[in-house]
Amino acid sequence: MAGTVVVGAQWGDEGKGKFVDLMSADMDFVVRYQGGHNAGHTIVIDEERFTLQLIPCGIMYDHVTPVIGNGVVVDPKVLVEEIEALEARGVSCEKLKLSGNAHLIFPYHQEIDEAIERRLGDAKLGTTKRGIGPAYADKAARVGIRAQDLLDKDIFIKKLEISLSEKNLLLSKVYGRAELDLDEIVQDYLTNYKDQLSPYIADTVSLLNDALADEKNEKRVLFEGAQATFLDLDHGTYPFVTSSNCSAGGAATGSGVGPRHLTRIIGVAKAYSTRVGSGPFPTELDDEVGARIAEVGDEFGTNTGRARRIGWFDAVMLRHAVNINTMTELAITKLDVLDGIDELKVCVAYEVNGKKLDGVPYHQTDFHDAKPIYETFSGWDEAISAVESRDGLPSAAQDYLKFLEAEVGVPITLVGVGPGRAQFLQWSEV
Ligand code: GDP
Ligand code: IMO
Ligand code: MG
Repeated sequence: MAGTVVVGAQWGDEGKGKFVDLMSADMDFVVRYQGGHNAGHTIVIDEERFTLQLIPCGIMYDHVTPVIGNGVVVDPKVLVEEIEALEARGVSCEKLKLSGNAHLIFPYHQEIDEAIERRLGDAKLGTTKRGIGPAYADKAARVGIRAQDLLDKDIFIKKLEISLSEKNLLLSKVYGRAELDLDEIVQDYLTNYKDQLSPYIADTVSLLNDALADEKNEKRVLFEGAQATFLDLDHGTYPFVTSSNCSAGGAATGSGVGPRHLTRIIGVAKAYSTRVGSGPFPTELDDEVGARIAEVGDEFGTNTGRARRIGWFDAVMLRHAVNINTMTELAITKLDVLDGIDELKVCVAYEVNGKKLDGVPYHQTDFHDAKPIYETFSGWDEAISAVESRDGLPSAAQDYLKFLEAEVGVPITLVGVGPGRAQFLQWSEV
């Protein structure tokens, strides 16, 4: 039983990429199981920065087989560009596997995503406009087109004709947009992308299960979550969510590996909170401290460049994330960003309609109205980005982490003190 899941415990951009890269040193497979190029996972190696959207962060190691699982939605253009960009920087993508069951994103998905956002006006979700929601909608409606369809021209064209005829009606009659040309899409997908991607298309379900079944030579598999628990389609702050199951359960369905293989589940959370896009955010800061965290933490979207909203660490949400994911441990990132702030706050409960609540309110309206109840801590003045051990941290930083660990209720194992691969320390042993 050797499956480890790295899952976002907040609203995304927690620094999952950094820890996936770090842990990949001891892995045989690294699997993306959901989401698409709405994700942006950053790795910094010797000052060199890599941002990955579709390819698992394990790609940096020659011994790792990176897998894009069936649960991912793939824009082939973006994947081809990502492969080319990595190869140009000397990172081999030769071992990459793309599940034949992964659904493809088409230009109409992106157009519809944009059109829906525009139509929603002030009520927009703030999506990445990458076509993610519409592609998953087609998957659920059973009119999606999968990577394996690229390998059968007749089937591909038949499916595309059916889908495009409906999408063109929607685009032109409902959204007042230009219709898309079938031949142009066929040319791009069946000539360019098919040729470039077919070497990678594989039966990844068998690949992973065979690897995990080999008792004598059991392989270690890391599942790399994209987005996060509170952007999960079922468990997030719906409708302000993405369209996939980002939580640990998604690692099973999005890869075809049974849940009993998922034994170690690492939630990643920042030492504060951020969110991109619309939706409730009880601990959101609209003051100088928030602005300072945004600046020091460089809190701008990895792909879209949008400013991230900032707030204090929310232990109530984290406790919920522990349950949703059966989280076995927590990794805290960006502790260094809090250096030099006089007073830190942690949300330990909410006040809703005059009542104290220790958990996430069941009704979304209550969540929108939830007022955070804080515990306050002294900050530290020292710069901690070079600290390599628990004992090396200032005592105020140690107190802060001890409190987070006790409030959340699972051990904090790793703590990030900078973006670099080596900038982390071990906090508790598992
Ligand atoms: P992901 O989507 O969860 O992989 O996270 P992103 O890559 O979108 O955003 C996290 C950002 O924080 C990236 O720019 C990382 O390089 C950076 N980062 C990760 N860990 C740390 C840390 O411990 N300290 C600091 N200062 N930056 C970090
Ligand atoms: P990583 O993997 C942060 C947010 C969008 C929007 C909502 C829906 O880098 O943590 P979508 O385009 O998915 O339909 O948008 O989800 N969102 C993310 N926020 N990090 C991400 O990925 C995100 N992927 C989507 O901003 O609010
Ligand atoms: Mg990101």
